[in-house]
Amino acid sequence: MTRPLRLHKFLAQCGIASRRKAEELIASGQVSVDGEVVREMGTSIVPGRNVVTCGGIPVTESEPLVYYLLNKPKGYVTTLSDPQNRPIVTSLIKDCQARLFPVGRLDFDTEGALILTNDGDLAQKIQHPSHETRKTYEARIKGRPTREKLTSLERGIMLDGRMTSPSRVTVLGGHADHTLVSITIHEGRKHQVKKMFAAIGHPVVSLRRTAYGRLELGNLPTGSYRRLYPVDLKKLFL
Ligand code: URA
Repeated sequence: MTRPLRLHKFLAQCGIASRRKAEELIASGQVSVDGEVVREMGTSIVPGRNVVTCGGIPVTESEPLVYYLLNKPKGYVTTLSDPQNRPIVTSLIKDCQARLFPVGRLDFDTEGALILTNDGDLAQKIQHPSHETRKTYEARIKGRPTREKLTSLERGIMLDGRMTSPSRVTVLGGHADHTLVSITIHEGRKHQVKKMFAAIGHPVVSLRRTAYGRLELGNLPTGSYRRLYPVDLKKLFL
């Protein structure tokens, strides 16, 4: 059962105001408990049982915001349900009560960096075109592309009737019949990287996202995750 809590502490926990400001709100008669205005400082309430309002608006405890960086394995979907009953990425995060969702998508057969959070504002910010959060992928592609073809990809190509925004492509290694490249893009169109390389005649054989902005996957093993903190989140927009 939820334990009783001092009213000013409850208001602060719910993000209404600091504890001191919450005391002022109570003293000025702006806070009600179960329909009655409360001005006494020592009042306790039981969250979830007593109905608290501030300025007439119900005050509810918000879920703490949490952030994870997962190294998504192949064979998982990044939707929250799947008509084909395939495994869902959020099932990989253990011991978390928050209602997590992935930020953006990765294909079923794509691996790598995936942020999971319950913070809708941050998710929107990362995906909003005006912030242009960079996403970096390592792609194994068929054949050996010429520098001209890679430069055309970097400048932008027509994809589904719309030019792609400028990207950056670096060749990491060449093999007999495939090439390992790194590509950094600012968009998140469906199957974008696969479509971009297919368009220049070098289809993707395997794909792994390695970073969002300067937040890198590093040596996080496949299927593992780590909590992210403000110092990590700052790197998303660098
Ligand atoms: N581009 C793709 O083609 N697939 C992904 O999963 C991510 C980016």
